[in-house]
Amino acid sequence: MQKLFQAKSIDEMLATQHDLKRTLRAKDLVFLGIGAIIGAGIFVITGVAAAKYAGPSIMLSFVLAGFACGLAALCYSELTAMIPISGSAYSYAYATMGEVIAWIIGWDLVLEYAMAASTVAIGWSGYLASLLGGLGIRLPKLLTSSMFMGEGGFINLPAVLVVSALTYLLITGIRESARANNVMVIIKISMVVLFILAGMGSIHPSNWTPFMPFGFSGMMTGAGVIFFAYIGFDAVSTAAQEAIDPEVNLPRGIIISLAVCTVLYLLTAAVLTGMISYTELNVPAPIAKALHSIGQGDLAFIIEIGALVGMTSVILVLLLGQSRVFYAMGRDGLLPPWAADIHPEYKTPHTSTLVVGVGVATVAALVPLNVLSELVSLGTLFSFGVVCGGVLLLRRSRPELPRPFHCPGVPYVPIAGMLACFYLMVNLPFRTWLLFIVWMGIGLTIYSRYGMKYSELRKTGDGTTS
Ligand code: ALA
Repeated sequence: MQKLFQAKSIDEMLATQHDLKRTLRAKDLVFLGIGAIIGAGIFVITGVAAAKYAGPSIMLSFVLAGFACGLAALCYSELTAMIPISGSAYSYAYATMGEVIAWIIGWDLVLEYAMAASTVAIGWSGYLASLLGGLGIRLPKLLTSSMFMGEGGFINLPAVLVVSALTYLLITGIRESARANNVMVIIKISMVVLFILAGMGSIHPSNWTPFMPFGFSGMMTGAGVIFFAYIGFDAVSTAAQEAIDPEVNLPRGIIISLAVCTVLYLLTAAVLTGMISYTELNVPAPIAKALHSIGQGDLAFIIEIGALVGMTSVILVLLLGQSRVFYAMGRDGLLPPWAADIHPEYKTPHTSTLVVGVGVATVAALVPLNVLSELVSLGTLFSFGVVCGGVLLLRRSRPELPRPFHCPGVPYVPIAGMLACFYLMVNLPFRTWLLFIVWMGIGLTIYSRYGMKYSELRKTGDGTTS
């Protein structure tokens, strides 16, 4: 029993991290963060969230969700600068709460990274179909949607193709992937800024009243729904072993990317709900709809292409994050040794990347979108909560360790972070909780059959119980 909660020594973790290539600078890390953040959330979900839950107060929903993420980001920054290794929340849990909790978090991160990548790939495919539809090219339904749950399709082929291409890119090198990501991020930021500038002059303040048509609770539910738009900033921490000067650059990457996106989101939400009535926003491409309403059809088309590019970079960074978490779990013996294989030439965890790519493509090919997105949010909130708790635990158990970045306001910021995550979690539907519990049950079964037997920590017995 004691072995289940045996924690890995941080000094040991730091001493054995040499096999990936350190090539990412501060700018690359900020771009990785933005790469993972701006995507389906702002380009698709904002419209539904405004129309169904928050109305114009979606602006406040963005502020609230951004605030909750900001608390978690400060906690992530402390841990990632202190333990700059690729497993992110999984590794922090291993160092603070012991093996079984680390496994639970590692398994949970599959929801945040792999399932989110599948979700965005499905959104990507829908956007592509609508863009091509606008040009008079109709993609057959059989090849663009799932065969399950009455979707009436067979396989979501565009989703499979985009995931396959990005998996290939990730296998061939982190530098190459970061370069492609940087280009995509510049394109998508330009699109968001272009929309804000183009729409600003067409705001009718009357569209902002009533400001809270569904009341305060609608605004709060809106925050839970658009939380998805912020998911991904923590993916920066999974690239810790590939970062130059990780102690300084990782906190920068996390905090700057989140701050930039929060400002862009708030402005986009204000302009969008100011341009047209929130009641008209329940569409898959709300930004394009707002631009059409002011006769800017060409710009709408360009921004739709930008949105597609934006979602591509989200999938890329989430795939990257998932493969690095599997790599860390393989190195610790909680997953089979293939997970920790490094390609001799590309210096990337190629087998993990391939397995993740195949898994993500399969889910995207076969599962409908709405089943996934709330499960992704629940899984992410859970890992954010554990990271906040990890800061508190490590301040007590290892106060002497150097902390290149200090989370301010401890214990209040981590406690507020945990409460905010918990609040957003309990507002998610019961059905999502059931799926989450089933997912965790599967994870614990795998751990009892595999990880418990092959864990490196159990073999060497070098751990501590904290
Ligand atoms: N934050 C990412 C998106 O909105 C997952 O697409």
